[in-house]
Formats: sequence, structure tokens, C-alpha cells
Amino acid sequence: MKRWTIAATLTAVLLSASSPAAPPVGGWAVVKAPEFPGFTRVIVKRDRNAWNVTLTSTWYGDQAMQDVRADGNRLLFKFYNGNPRLVPSDIVLERSGKGIHIKGKLWDQEFDVAALPASVKKLKALDFRTTTLPPKRVVAQPDLAPTPPMGWSSWNKFATDISDKTIREIADALVKSGLRDAGYIHVNIDDGWQGKRDAGGRLQPNANFPDMKALADHLHARGLKLGIYTSPGPKSCAGYQGSYGHVQEDARTFAEWGIDYLKYDLCSGEAFYHTADTVYGTYQEMGEALAATGRPIVYSLCEYGRFDVGSWGRDVGGHLWRTTGDIEDNYDRMATIGFDKNGVPKHTGPNGWNDPDMLEVGNGGMTAAEYRTHISLWALLAAPLILGNDVRTMNAETLSLLTNEEVIAIDQDKRGAQGLPVKKDGKIEIWTKSLADGAVAVGVFNRDAGEYTVAVDWAEIGLPKVSKLRDLWAHNDLAATPSEVTVPAHGVRLLKVWR
Ligand code: GLA
Repeated sequence: MKRWTIAATLTAVLLSASSPAAPPVGGWAVVKAPEFPGFTRVIVKRDRNAWNVTLTSTWYGDQAMQDVRADGNRLLFKFYNGNPRLVPSDIVLERSGKGIHIKGKLWDQEFDVAALPASVKKLKALDFRTTTLPPKRVVAQPDLAPTPPMGWSSWNKFATDISDKTIREIADALVKSGLRDAGYIHVNIDDGWQGKRDAGGRLQPNANFPDMKALADHLHARGLKLGIYTSPGPKSCAGYQGSYGHVQEDARTFAEWGIDYLKYDLCSGEAFYHTADTVYGTYQEMGEALAATGRPIVYSLCEYGRFDVGSWGRDVGGHLWRTTGDIEDNYDRMATIGFDKNGVPKHTGPNGWNDPDMLEVGNGGMTAAEYRTHISLWALLAAPLILGNDVRTMNAETLSLLTNEEVIAIDQDKRGAQGLPVKKDGKIEIWTKSLADGAVAVGVFNRDAGEYTVAVDWAEIGLPKVSKLRDLWAHNDLAATPSEVTVPAHGVRLLKVWR
């Protein structure tokens, strides 16, 4: 937290009022700000020749502005929120009547916020209470994910339009459709369940989730597990309550509810934690908090692959870690992630998995061939298989894509190796994955928009002697080792090959 002395500020406020030709110095309370970024307070100081501006917000706490410059009687500066993709633009601070205005843009949010001079007491009341991270430690990793986690999550299809009712219906559909028995047992509530904190600081679900414990009991009685979502920042990505300052307490609450899986999504936490050490520290903090509850909880790290997360995800107690930003229900984005942003292969393996994000199968944005590519690629990668569609209303084709046992077996292979590309030739990629039984899964992918007949040189891809081949989507054994295979547009031929 940046300190400013009350006396200095008061003097400065008086001084600034008397010299309107220079930028104002002092402290102001924001009258009304857009929900994002939720500005509450502005402090301007002048130390010798340098201007310092601190903006306090409900999303990012106290942030010192970057690149602060005087321009006549205005100040210009940039807000850096810790996100490497943000290109900060100039924010302008200028006098307005008795107070000031700050005008600018953060992400897509434009703002023109008025702030008025306030008493020291009032400014103090707007303090953002910062917390410190624990000293760096390695957290014991509970043995909860010997194979990549499988389940369902609300985000891809429902975003924040979720309720207890939806989740119960999804659970029932998972059971009835056979998806649970195919292995999809985690039912994960993503962003949008959170309500407010009560007077004691305990996080409450919002009105759509009247009783989390009862919901967990309902799922457990059906052989399913309940997952939940929070952020190390003050706000989740969709603007709900985060766990900043309440990490241990929230972990205890989740354990009391009977939660079995936590997705911890950096979101607004990136403004506080944007170095390798602090990102490790914040994920360590929750890893320790989960461990302290004594409840087995699968720990899913979501920080978009920053700071080579696979190299330390296990050390904070994590079982899976996102390797990328968000997937979308279209071939290009899915393929970019699956082929090219799938994490460092050596980090994946039993109990700790590279996570290229949840599935989009059944959401309607891709062809059946493209969805087959999506599942096949995730299976070869040993990626978590977290469904993202409305399993209550899916059609037979979607169900059959999701319940192909032979493909699921490739994903869930006990060896836990991440498949690798062994040949890339223009739009054609051949991937292989070594399996626990000594066989090899082979994916021949066509990234082009037209059908291809691909010549396969088995020796060249490390399989000089093939004794048996099986097509895992056609569900048949191949009579002879083919020298070429036909692959549909954006499609795949997924084979299991015995040497
Ligand atoms: C981020 C995550 C998504 C999802 C949303 C929820 O974008 O990467 O998977 O959890 O937040 O707001």
C-alpha cells in the first residue's frame, strides 16, 4: 500500500486550490464510478519534480499510475493492470469546479469520473486493505488426479446465467445420458455463483444458489463431485466477489460446503500479482489454505499459462493448470490452442496436467469433424476433459462424440504422457502418444479447409513395424497398414497402433 501523509495532503489541497495554473495536488473521493474498474479514491502528490498519482479501485486496490506527466494544469498518466495484453492509453486528470475529473479508458470501459475533496477521515475510510503473501514454500500435492480430470463446467455455454436448478438438471443429465459413467464426474460451477460477504466476512452464494451444501449433497448422492470457482483478486473476471484478503476463510467455506474441486482464476489478481514470485505466492497461498481444510479438493490453476506455470504448478499443490487464454467455439481458436498453446509436454503427467481449457463440443460453432479434432487432440495431449455444452439438450451426435470410450481411454491412459507432433508438413500434422500398454496413439490431422489424402511413412514417425491398427472413431481394425489415409477438412484420423 502506498502511504501518503494526511498533513502533506491537506497542505497540498490548500496549495492546489490557490494555484489553478498547475495540476492539482491532494486527495479526492470519487462520487460515482462505473462498476469496472470501480474507482473510489484519487491521491496526487508532488515529490520534488515527480508527480505521483494513486488510484484506488474495487478491482485493483491501490495502484500507482505509470508515466505521470503534467500538461498545463492537467495530469496525464497510464493505468497498468498487470495484464500483458493491455495497451494502456492516457488517462487525464483535470480540475472541475471544486473537484477533479478523471477521464480515460481501461480495456473497453470508458470513464469520466468526478471526484470531490474529502475530509481526511473520509479519504482514510476509502483505504484498500492490502494483504501480504506467505513466504515461498512447496505445498504437498494431494494425490487426486492420477489421470486428467473429467467433468463439466458451466462457463462455455452458460457464462454467468447459472443457478442451483441448472446445476441439478445438468447433474441429472450427466447421469441419465451415461456421461457420468463414461468418467465425467466433476460438475464445476464457474464464475457467477458468488454473492456478498456477510458481516463476518464469510462469502455467501447469490440468490440463484440458496444452499451450496445441499447442492453438494445432491451431487454426491449421484456419484458426482461439485467444483467451484474463485479468484485471488478482489473481483472475479466477471466482476463478482473474489477471495482477496479472505483466502483461508473461503477455502474453509468451500470445504464446509463439500466442494471437491476449485478453479482459482487470476482475474483482477493480476494487478497485484504480475511477477513470477507473486503469482507463485498467490497460488501457493490458496494451495496451503485448501490443504489446511483437510478436505481433498482438486486444485485447478487458471493464470493463462503465465510464468511457465507447468514448471511449478505441482509445487503449489495444483493438479491442472491452464496453458492459455480462453477457448472459443470456433475451429481457429480451438486449433490455435490445441496445436500450439498446449503447454510444455514434460510438465504433464499423473497428478499434474497441462490444461488447454474446457471443451466446446456440442456448442454448435464447429462441424462434427472439427469437434472430433478437438476431442482427439485433447486426448492425445492428456488434457483434462471438462465438457462445456448443455448436456440436458445435446443431440445424439454430440453424445456419441463425448462418449467414445476408445478415445477417452487415450486421454485417460495411466502413463499420462503428452502426445507430440512427429511430423508437420504444411497443413498436415501427425501426432503420437505412447500408451501404458506399449501401443501408440497416432493422430493424423488436417488443418486445411479441404479433404486431404496423407501419405504416412510409418518408419519415419517411429513405427517401423506395425502389428495391428485400429481406427478409434470408426471403431474398426484396419486389415493392413495403409500407406495413405484420407482426412476430412479440419479433421483427424485417430488410430491406435501396436508395434
Ligand atoms: C476467465 C477464465 C474462463 C472463465 C471466465 C469466468 O476468462 O479463463 O475460463 O472462468 O474467466 O469469468
